[in-house]
Amino acid sequence: MRRQIIAGNWKMNGTIASGSILIEGINGTLKEDELSVDVVVCPPFTALERAVTMTRNTSIVVGAQTMDYHDAGAYTGEISPLMLTELGVRYVILGHSERRDYYGETDATVNEKIKRAFHHNLQPIVCVGESLAQRESNETMTFIESQLQGALQHIPKEQVQQLIVAYEPIWAIGTGKTATAEQAEEVCAGIRQYISKLYDKATAADVRIQYGGSVKAENAYEILSQPNIDGALVGGASLVADDFTSIIMSAQQVATDMLHSN
Ligand code: 13P
Repeated sequence: MRRQIIAGNWKMNGTIASGSILIEGINGTLKEDELSVDVVVCPPFTALERAVTMTRNTSIVVGAQTMDYHDAGAYTGEISPLMLTELGVRYVILGHSERRDYYGETDATVNEKIKRAFHHNLQPIVCVGESLAQRESNETMTFIESQLQGALQHIPKEQVQQLIVAYEPIWAIGTGKTATAEQAEEVCAGIRQYISKLYDKATAADVRIQYGGSVKAENAYEILSQPNIDGALVGGASLVADDFTSIIMSAQQVATDMLHSN
């Protein structure tokens, strides 16, 4: 059974001080619970070290929002995988649509980054997703398949099995417009099917696929209870401790329900 994974992408929000208060709030609520869900927070680079310190011996682990694929060198402004692992960071979001749109990230660079992330024992969360125009012209799956094909070039299946894919329709990010649970499930099932075609059924069955795009406490349970959705990548709602923990609790509820239905 795939374990649900809830990740909070803080994007370029907050300070070390406000991030610490947020983590304290999340920790405070989760402390008592034995979670069967993975929880990740992805603060801005400057808050990573504090976040790692504050989440030691808790059920929360820390991820970064992007990284460079070189270990070191003349790459002004970039952060390398080595710098992340030195801090104790465990996950890294790769190919977020904002990185693709504003900073020129491509499937080829995402591919390099996945390779380097695995090399350094960082768990990649690879984002894919269509624009509104692509959805309206029925190009959603063709586009996402091309993103996956590019991102997964020469990635062995042993690594793909550990991969997390985040399906984030661009039109649903930060807009309050969530994909319906059916729309999200349809694409996540399509992603699994395509990975099965690229590799095999067993590999596809292991990949965890998150949905991201205006996930909130109110819609989390319905989305997370879809058979091919194994978690959420949360933006706005991850900045409010109560909202984020409610989403985690929804995932926990889904895990409990599944245990009882088997
Ligand atoms: P929102 O949850 O704010 O729509 O952001 C989604 C996202 O981009 C997470 O990576």
